[in-house]
Amino acid sequence: MKITVFGSGYVGLVTGACLADVGNDVVCVDVDRDKIEKLRDGIVPIYEPGLGAMIETNRVGGNLDFTTDAARGVAHGNILFIAVGTPPDEDGSADLRYVMAVAQTIGIHMGEYKLIVNKSTVPVGTADAVESEIKKQLMARNQSIDFDVCSNPEFLKEGAAIDDFTKATRIVIGAETAQALELMRELYAPYNRNHDKIIAMDIRSAELTKYAANAMLATKISLMNELANIAERIGADIEHVRIGIGSDPRIGYHFIYPGCGYGGSCFPKDIRALTRSAASLGLDAGVLAAVELVNENQKQNLFAKVSDAFSGNLAGKTIAVWGLAFKPNTDDMREAPSRTLMDSLWAAGARVRAFDPKAMEECSRIYGDRADLVLCETAIDALHGSDALVICTEWKAFRTVEPSLFTHTLAHPIVIDGRNIYEPSRMRSAGIVYYSIGRQTVRPSS
Ligand code: UDX
Repeated sequence: MKITVFGSGYVGLVTGACLADVGNDVVCVDVDRDKIEKLRDGIVPIYEPGLGAMIETNRVGGNLDFTTDAARGVAHGNILFIAVGTPPDEDGSADLRYVMAVAQTIGIHMGEYKLIVNKSTVPVGTADAVESEIKKQLMARNQSIDFDVCSNPEFLKEGAAIDDFTKATRIVIGAETAQALELMRELYAPYNRNHDKIIAMDIRSAELTKYAANAMLATKISLMNELANIAERIGADIEHVRIGIGSDPRIGYHFIYPGCGYGGSCFPKDIRALTRSAASLGLDAGVLAAVELVNENQKQNLFAKVSDAFSGNLAGKTIAVWGLAFKPNTDDMREAPSRTLMDSLWAAGARVRAFDPKAMEECSRIYGDRADLVLCETAIDALHGSDALVICTEWKAFRTVEPSLFTHTLAHPIVIDGRNIYEPSRMRSAGIVYYSIGRQTVRPSS
């Protein structure tokens, strides 16, 4: 099939590469000239396991191309994906400017039937707005060309996006004509093996499904973090509680890991956007508002622990920070807990020695050169000359270090673990003051 994907960001590139990889003829369009030139030269602007190789194979193979020429993009595909960003407005609602610009472009250039598929995360009702915009442009050109709009939300986790696309547990399609649904079934046939994973529904329900999924997951995390804070103060261990409740299949083990708060490009933005949507309908989405509030507080939690460790006196201290990305296997630092922590440390007069296996370039892009930030070559390098260590991301490599490393390198043997990656008893035996989430702080003498 001939496919065009508008938007060569994270979702657009994964979608374009995966669809090309099963033999479709795919063109990816973006307004960012620099990005498109790099992609044409085989340089992938984001880190996602497997994506670079997949893009390269299909680019060289001739069934994946990149262009800034929107008219060419519209002419190329029978199916046109909209996968552009929906950044938050000042009030937190989703800014649809880029989605509507693509709709306008499609309306201006289309010359035959097209199926327009919205993959961007958009408020309920956006497909209707896209349809109206295309109709408006067609009317302005005195054209009456048939087209369909459908909603096909993505459920891609950064770090596992290729698998999430090619081995999806569900493929949600909001379509309102038989032709649209049939085309989508055909497109997804290569991934729809063993059992039917396609869940077809009306467009508004599909649009809401995306927000509902993220709201449900973020709620699990915030509730778990709230329980962790209770556990910590009440003398319980949240890790026992987690296993205790996860064993109930109605609750399940997934997404109940306490930590230093969720970040990334989806949860924070989508929770806010859904809260705003509800408010605009006169609904007070109290649970969603609480999910966000708990998360904001949780992101401050690490700083509170560092501050506690040094009795509130952080001026002149140097703190090692391990893990800058919002989660492992990505270089994405959007809304990452590490940023909240570093901002607070700097405000308190501390310096930071930071390390992340993938996000060093991104960190330097965000913060540039500053005297109170040293970007270290290795995790161990970050410890040398530091007073304490804070762990913000649970990268696998951090899990395997021997506790003695901390006592040999840090000026004070203090480790503040935002992801509960170490066994408290081992840290105690090694003589480390060990703070974690929802568990009792261990001290060598205690
Ligand atoms: C999420 C959704 O999972 C995905 O389906 C959607 O399409 C986009 O948003 P992503 O943002 O890539 O994906 O990351 P995810 O793995 O879901 O983690 C989000 C955040 O929650 C991370 O900061 C992670 O550390 C945190 N988290 C996750 C927890 O704190 N505890 C958990 O138990 C799980």
